[in-house]
Amino acid sequence: MFGSGDVWRFNASLFLPFKFLQLLSLSNRNITGWTKNEGFSKLKQLPNLKVVDLQYNHIHPKVLLSSLCWISSLEVLKLGAHVDTSFNVPTTYNSSTSKKCGGLTNLRKLWFEGYEINILSALGKLPKSNAGGLTNLEKLILNNNNFNSTIFSSLKIFPSLKHLNLAANEINGNIEMNGLLRPSSYQSLPH
Ligand SMILES: *[C@@H]1O[C@H](CO)[C@@H](O)[C@H](O)[C@H]1NC(C)=O
Ligand SMILES: *[C@@H]1O[C@H](CO)[C@@H](O)[C@H](O)[C@H]1NC(C)=O
Ligand SMILES: *[C@@H]1O[C@H](CO)[C@@H](O)[C@H](O)[C@H]1NC(C)=O
Repeated sequence: MFGSGDVWRFNASLFLPFKFLQLLSLSNRNITGWTKNEGFSKLKQLPNLKVVDLQYNHIHPKVLLSSLCWISSLEVLKLGAHVDTSFNVPTTYNSSTSKKCGGLTNLRKLWFEGYEINILSALGKLPKSNAGGLTNLEKLILNNNNFNSTIFSSLKIFPSLKHLNLAANEINGNIEMNGLLRPSSYQSLPH
């Protein structure tokens, strides 16, 4: 990592020698971007990388997702921010490269907290061509967003979902879930 003052830029080449790296936790590091050509997508060169935690940094969530969706070995991805965080789109981010994203077909658990999003298509930087993008997702943590009950009709895109956390969203009133989900597959549904 390189930085000046309290602001840090990620540099993938520092981690690539560790071919057996399974977990990378860089939460709360004030990361605002990355060195040119050394972004998160390069971590796909680590074949054993299963867990990445980048919570509480200052990079826009769409940028994070479209960079991290190259890492097909990922099983657990923790993203999130404090509400009212100001996000940065790094100047080194090339949005056209994200279109080729390989998907996160092995992802089991996704944290996407505090981004104040209200539609799941905010996760849509995941490849649309690859409908199987998150078919194995079992646990989805969406605390501190702005979802209302219409989210339940969107959850069909996660056929393996078992745990869902929607605490601190805008869900009020009756929730019509008939036919939307297989309730027996849910183990917990906190408020
Ligand atoms: C992040 O920034 C804050 C405020 O500028 C500073 O207090 C903190 O030490 C920084 N943390 C790191 C890991 O650099
Ligand atoms: C962005 O990526 C595309 C596709 O890889 C490439 O053609 C283009 O030159 C890149 N743009 C910049 C500014 O690097
Ligand atoms: C629920 O959220 C969706 C997506 O933002 C919005 O289109 C809809 O109007 C909202 N419905 C209510 C009852 O707030």
